Amino acid sequence: MSAQIALPPSAWTSRILGLGAYRPTRVVGNDEIVKNIDSSDEWIRTRSGIESRRWAGPDETVVSMSLAAAGKALAHAGIQPDQIDCVVVATVTHLYQTPSAAVEIAHKLGAGSAAAFDISAACAGFCYGLSLASDMVRAGTSRHVLVIGVERLSDLTDPHDRSTAFIFADGAGAVVVGPGGPDDPPGIGPVVWGSDGSALDHIRQKKGWREALFGADGPEMPHLVMEGNPVFRWASYEMAKVAQEAVAAAGITMADLDVFAPHQANMRITDAMARQLKLPDSVAIARDIATQGNTSAASVPLALERMVENGEATSGDLALIIGFGAGLVYAGQVVRIP
Ligand code: UT7
Repeated sequence: MSAQIALPPSAWTSRILGLGAYRPTRVVGNDEIVKNIDSSDEWIRTRSGIESRRWAGPDETVVSMSLAAAGKALAHAGIQPDQIDCVVVATVTHLYQTPSAAVEIAHKLGAGSAAAFDISAACAGFCYGLSLASDMVRAGTSRHVLVIGVERLSDLTDPHDRSTAFIFADGAGAVVVGPGGPDDPPGIGPVVWGSDGSALDHIRQKKGWREALFGADGPEMPHLVMEGNPVFRWASYEMAKVAQEAVAAAGITMADLDVFAPHQANMRITDAMARQLKLPDSVAIARDIATQGNTSAASVPLALERMVENGEATSGDLALIIGFGAGLVYAGQVVRIP
């Protein structure tokens, strides 16, 4: 018999230890948006629920916003940067193919030689990253994982495109994931996730970088384009089923939930999902989109942070979170608020 491979000690459970967020300082109202598109404040409010959004200034980069959110999450968790073993950054707007935003963030944060990588799962990116982090902690691969959802979507949004200009926005949210104690109940439930590449064209970058830089039309930013209505219908109906599966996988019922924080894509999608889930009135529903816009991978942690700040969510509450978007991709799980 040859030598046996040793495995690291694993943890029974994982949980979110700390939560932090960063919102860019510049508030952009609908009045500013409608200067560039044939639309109105009333249309944007009634069709999307967005009253204003935040757009990053020159100094509010993917890395700087992440560092600000991560610093708050670490302080909340009571964890020092050098205790972080892995940094996972979910983003589709770090405009460097390589190196990853995660390595720069780990370095600038003082996370020493932590493993670091970015993931591209659009608006489901945070929930994908959280699932990976939970599994890493439970398997013993890492003791503490920093998960960041961050976007500077204003870089990839054409202000003259009426199908996207009013919806996308910027910001960052972060959590620290670590092991539960021997008597602690699980803090992160099983993920229900998937993808549907047959709907690739519904939300995508208009052009690849080579075509954008060297194509016949001359250099231009490869902005995001979206066929909003098919995505709206898919999200409104199919995502409620995924949310139901996530609640069932966690072994609880809708009545056990305290908080529902779906990806902040459109207030009408949130309302449609809440109706289908038949959430009891006692469940607080995230409505961060009204003043934050749709921040893709950042939207779920930003929404959770707002609810904690407002007192709508408190430590120990059970929250159903779900992300969905370009790909199409989706991921949902039940978590306990730190
Ligand atoms: O985060 C990643 C995932 N993304 C999403 O989940 C976004 C999902 N989609 C949506 O949120 C919605 O589809 C939008 C808010 C983007 C659009 O709302 P909609 O109710 O699906 O509008 P629509 O595209 O079906 O268009 C309805 C009408 C059309 O006019 P007619 O044909 O009825 O006369 C559009 O031309 O609204 C018109 N329209 C607009 N009017 C004013 C479309 N965009 C605009 C606009 N301002 N910006």
